[in-house]
Amino acid sequence: MIYAANFKTNHTRQSTREYLGKLQAKLLLELNPNDKIYIFPPLTALDEYSSSDFTVGVQNAYPVEKGAFTGEVGLEQLAEFNINTILIGHSERRDILGESQEQIAKKFAFFKEQGFKIIYCIGESLEIREQGIESVMEHLISQFDGIDTTYENFMVAYEPIWAIGTGRTASVEEITQTHNELKKVVDRPLLYGGSVKGANIAQISAIENVNGVLVGGASLNPESFLELVLH
Ligand code: 13P
Repeated sequence: MIYAANFKTNHTRQSTREYLGKLQAKLLLELNPNDKIYIFPPLTALDEYSSSDFTVGVQNAYPVEKGAFTGEVGLEQLAEFNINTILIGHSERRDILGESQEQIAKKFAFFKEQGFKIIYCIGESLEIREQGIESVMEHLISQFDGIDTTYENFMVAYEPIWAIGTGRTASVEEITQTHNELKKVVDRPLLYGGSVKGANIAQISAIENVNGVLVGGASLNPESFLELVLH
C-alpha cells in the first residue's frame, strides 16, 4: 500500500521536522517493507530530511526551471532539497486556485520530462456523482486530457470532491466501481482520497483496485497518520 500525507496549508518547518522525527522512529521498527510513505508538507517546510522510510514531495510547483514568475517555485528551488515527487491536479488547485486542465497538462508534461514521480489527482463534484457512474467516468476521463497516461512514473489519486474534508467517505461500492472503471482507462497505481482515517482504512485498503490512500485531515498529526499506516 501507498500512504500519502497531504498537509495542504498546515504545519511549519519546525512542526514538520518534529512530525517526521516521530514518524521515522516508529516506521523504522514497524513499517511493512511493501508499504511506501509520501509526505507533502507546505513549500516553506522543505528542508534536508533524509530517510529511506518516507519520501518528501511538494504539493505544487511551477513548470519552469527558474525565471520571472513572481510567487512561484521552480525546479531550481526544488533541487536544493532533492525534491523529485509532486502532486498535480488537486481539486483545491483546480477549483480554488483556478488551474485549468490545459495548465495542469503543461505542468504534468514538464515534470514528466524531468522524471519526477507524479501523483495526479482527479475527482468529481457531488452534482456529477448524483448523475451516476457514467457521468462520473466521463468527467474523470476528461481530467486526463493532455496527460500522458503511459508515463511510467505516475500514480492516480481519485479524490471525490464531496468526500474531501467532509467526513463523508465514498462508499466501498462507489470506490470499487470507480477504481475498476479507472483501471481500464489507466493502468497505474490508484490511490483513493477523501476523509480517509483510522476508522475506515481497513475497509478502504481491502478494496482490490485501491493501491494506496491520499490523506489530508487524518495525516496532520503523526499519531493519526501512523494509525493508518500501521493498521
Ligand atoms: P481529507 O483527508 O481531509 O478529506 O483530504 C483529502 C485530500 O484532499 C488529500 O489530498
